[in-house]
Amino acid sequence: MKKKNCIITGGTSGLGLNLLKKFINNDFFVHVIAKDNKKINYFNDYFHKRDLQSLKFYQADLSESKELRKSVSQLKNLDSIDVLINNAGSLFLKKELNSNGLEKTFVVNYLSHFFLTISLIEIIKKTKNSRIINISSWVHKLAKLNLNDINFSGSYNGVAAYNNSKLMNILFNYKISRIYGNTISTYAIHPGWVNTNFGNNNISFVRTMLKFVRSLFAKKPSNVANEIYTLCTNDKYLNYSGKYLVKNEVRKSSNFSYSFDLQDKLWEMSMKMINNY
Ligand SMILES: NC(=O)c1ccc[n+]([C@@H]2O[C@H](COP(=O)([O-])OP(=O)(O)OC[C@H]3O[C@@H](n4cnc5c(N)ncnc54)[C@H](OP(=O)(O)O)[C@@H]3O)[C@@H](O)[C@H]2O)c1
Repeated sequence: MKKKNCIITGGTSGLGLNLLKKFINNDFFVHVIAKDNKKINYFNDYFHKRDLQSLKFYQADLSESKELRKSVSQLKNLDSIDVLINNAGSLFLKKELNSNGLEKTFVVNYLSHFFLTISLIEIIKKTKNSRIINISSWVHKLAKLNLNDINFSGSYNGVAAYNNSKLMNILFNYKISRIYGNTISTYAIHPGWVNTNFGNNNISFVRTMLKFVRSLFAKKPSNVANEIYTLCTNDKYLNYSGKYLVKNEVRKSSNFSYSFDLQDKLWEMSMKMINNY
């Protein structure tokens, strides 16, 4: 029988890796976009040795449009996409720009996923019961989004850039639901505080602190992956489409996130940006 297709961004660590394990063990064909060739080779071997071969990696650093474009052109050959999980995310405490001069938090956490989703939307739309999961965070409630200065032309604050990107994930979720809600189920979720490698790309002090506290108090990524798998496969959740969820329950997101005006402005700006992507 033909397997269902699931696409996951950032499937070589943390939540994404646990999602990969869950979906591949449950008869999905999993397509993973990941940036690190060493990890790709390692996990390719790992899964193949365990006779889990329904897996394809696409190497791309999501901060660079030309790399993502290559993956997208291959993914466009799929004849169905049942699940798309916009998962990859990063926190850059120091400002970094990509080769187009765009701030990387914005690009990795939001714009790359916008481009990926829009590029594949026709395939997702024609797949029965398809679902898009946008991994956001409760910190979107702290966002102070200024769409006229997406690049932080004044002083840069990495945490603020991250909070903004997580709000954009939700604004995007609401907008695609408004447009495609009849044919695609879309969800923005806060996964909780999860024991992953998140933030480890930053200076060692931050890394050590995060690791220690997380190991004591945070949720296991495998438990969160189970929750998301249920969300993607149980028909009960079709009724929750277009919503913001925490532990698979509908929650209220920030007041800003419900603004049609903000959703529309972000959509228009992103569409213009991906025109030359
Ligand atoms: N952990 C939490 O408590 C928490 C809470 C709320 C929301 N979240 C969200 O959950 C999602 C998953 O994060 P996580 O906690 O699982 O962290 P993680 O362990 O650091 O995993 C993040 C994944 O994203 C990938 N990634 C980062 N930058 C990338 C780029 N430029 N191109 C391609 N892939 C890239 C990483 O690749 P590598 O494997 O190569 O590093 C990794 O696979 C993120 O969107 C994060 O914002 C996490």
